[in-house]
Amino acid sequence: MLANLIPSYDMLGSPMPAILAQFLMALTLAAHWAFLAMTMGGAAAYVMGQGSEDETPVRAKLSAFLPYSLSMAMTLGIAPLLFVQVLYGNFFYTANILVGYVWLGLLALMVVNLYLLFWSWLRSRQGKSIRGLGVLILILLAASAFILATNGTLAQNPQDWETFRANSGVTPYYGDATLVPRWLFALSALLAGGGLFVALFTRLQTPDGEAPMRPVSRPLGVSIAGCIGTLVFGLWGSLALPESVRTGLFGSLESIFVYVAILAFAAALVLGYTALKSMAIKRMLLSAIALFVGLFATAALRDTLRRLALAEYFDLSSVPVHSQWSSFTLFAVILVLGLGLIGYIVVLSYGTDWAKRPNASTV
Ligand code: HEM
Repeated sequence: MLANLIPSYDMLGSPMPAILAQFLMALTLAAHWAFLAMTMGGAAAYVMGQGSEDETPVRAKLSAFLPYSLSMAMTLGIAPLLFVQVLYGNFFYTANILVGYVWLGLLALMVVNLYLLFWSWLRSRQGKSIRGLGVLILILLAASAFILATNGTLAQNPQDWETFRANSGVTPYYGDATLVPRWLFALSALLAGGGLFVALFTRLQTPDGEAPMRPVSRPLGVSIAGCIGTLVFGLWGSLALPESVRTGLFGSLESIFVYVAILAFAAALVLGYTALKSMAIKRMLLSAIALFVGLFATAALRDTLRRLALAEYFDLSSVPVHSQWSSFTLFAVILVLGLGLIGYIVVLSYGTDWAKRPNASTV
């Protein structure tokens, strides 16, 4: 019965070597999370009253940016979706169908969230409070992350599919002990990146010598708390792993992702803390780099955990590879051009003056 619910892999085989798809999946997933972090950090700033009356210019700019950061996150979510389809489509899409209505709910949440972000922008321009909207946006983002996490855990527990299907797709899957720490880890990582983004955003808008301490230090505090959260929930998650997965993980070379993630989040924490003291832009930028490395290592680790959990049912290396380099080249060229274009838009919007400011180089 179980075997009937697991479709075979695509008979056309894989269009590229698995390792390349795995690398790109991790990279694009980290980019997806980076833009989600900006959205989440911005919404958290609304809740904390970032930019209330006396800081209106910064708040207006931030609220103008958030609809775009969520749009970018959604667009960048499509790339890992394509790679997960190539690598684990038979598990991923079956899980999608089994949590059907919950999964489709993600789209509704996305649409509502975009409207809320545009509404916040409008209210901010009118000088009205956007705290309540910030709370709503955060709740919807947390709910979206939960949907992704419940789908991700269901996809790697095919032994539960037969009984779970009696739920007719209206309830999330709670059967994996790592679900809650995995979700809390994701929220912490997004808040860590988001707090840092708002601190940097605010700091860059402020002329040197007039650096407003509170609007920069409060989001930095959120970032530091988020980094601590990643370490705590990461530990909880690793303790909740099934014995076979944990043994497999720490017995393989891929356990390096665990250590890289721990080091990166710890480094981001220390750099964030020192930035709190010095308000130095460079420290914040270094912390942001460390966080991105942490997100990348986490995305790679997710892949390892999924393969270990599915080892009994599926061996990625047994899927035949029929490379289609023309499609891949098209993807790679568009990705590089797209990222270049985003960089160019950022430079056009914010310039590079901040890099020449004396405080920018204070480490
Ligand atoms: C159109 C919108 C979105 C798309 C296309 C998208 C796409 C994806 C994809 C493909 C994955 C990897 C799935 C897997 O490998 O199993 C993923 C993971 C994730 N996404 Fe998104 N996403 C979207 C919106 C969001 C939103 C709004 C959030 C909220 C914060 C979010 C948070 C996450 C999280 C936390 C994970 C990891 C879940 C886990 O495995 O525990 N995503 N997303």
